[in-house]
Amino acid sequence: MSERASRHISVLGREAVAYLEPRAGGIYVDATFGAGGYSRMILDVTDTRVIGIDRDRNAITGGFDLVDGAGGRLTLVEDRFSELAEVCAAQGVDAVDGVVMDVGVSSMQLDQAERGFSFRLSGPLDMRMAQSGPTAADVVATATEKQLADIIYIFGEERHSRGVARAIVAARKEAPITTTEALANIVAKVVRAKPNEIHPATRTFQALRIFVNEELDELHQALAAAERVLKPGGRLAVVSFHSLEDRIVKNFLSERGKVSAGSRHLPEVAQSAPSFQILTKRPVVPSDAEIAANPRARSAKLRAAERTAAPAHADDDLPSWPRLSDLKRGG
Ligand SMILES: C[S@@+](CC[C@H](N)C(=O)[O-])C[C@H]1O[C@@H](n2cnc3c(N)ncnc32)[C@H](O)[C@@H]1O
Repeated sequence: MSERASRHISVLGREAVAYLEPRAGGIYVDATFGAGGYSRMILDVTDTRVIGIDRDRNAITGGFDLVDGAGGRLTLVEDRFSELAEVCAAQGVDAVDGVVMDVGVSSMQLDQAERGFSFRLSGPLDMRMAQSGPTAADVVATATEKQLADIIYIFGEERHSRGVARAIVAARKEAPITTTEALANIVAKVVRAKPNEIHPATRTFQALRIFVNEELDELHQALAAAERVLKPGGRLAVVSFHSLEDRIVKNFLSERGKVSAGSRHLPEVAQSAPSFQILTKRPVVPSDAEIAANPRARSAKLRAAERTAAPAHADDDLPSWPRLSDLKRGG
């Protein structure tokens, strides 16, 4: 299958797909189809089958040519990757040989001003990957000052979160904050730009994006879903782009790589044997050459593991971070 020019340059794609060890007859889930870079590499191996998932309709429609050229070996599904087990079941697949995830946003999403992900481009304050549900502007308009401060602190790791939240609440009393530019200007008055440091709005934008798309819950649930659908010997490879995501992957794999203590909610659930064998003691990071060619690769980390024959562990409690449902309850 030939490479097709695409605007998103895959990060750590070769390495992630190498960990899957795709083989003829194998079924693989590309949980973050994007521009299809990873799927293409799996399909390059003869007689593989790929189920590609993306919650962004533009990514799915952008992949139709690849579907046409794949001779029935690629199926694309518009859905959240937390639903990957259900997506596979709907395709008549109850066990797979590999799951790969390349979490975060694509260059297509970041670079389209109208999607509202970037503080560098003026556009509506949207940030929804799935193009449905509450926008970042809705969150900025309706969250309490405390909720905004928590979101910005927890998901943006922004030290000035309280100041930013206060400034947002003061500004929205004057006029609705509906554009990326308006929000970036409000943040820049509180978080001062320092030479050679990231743009002052970086952390606040990251926080809102994670919150609007429920990214950490999605990742947590997708890892557990992968554990349920992978065959013994099946491989999981995950590329993440910031420390919050990498911590979730690392903690999940280290918990699943040990004997579990059982569930405190279900005392009858006994200890379980490790469900994964970790293949990457340390995360794989991009080479200097990859970072030079694609600066967006610089924070990427790849972790991989092989499914054992042990049953999936009991679901762990999700951390109590801010959630969209809290906003809807106004709490
Ligand atoms: C970094 S891009 C993937 C790029 C892809 N590996 C490639 O080589 O073209 C991430 C993609 O995952 C999608 N995505 C992120 N979170 C998702 C989720 N929870 N469910 C489904 N798709 C998601 C985004 O819409 C985006 O298209």
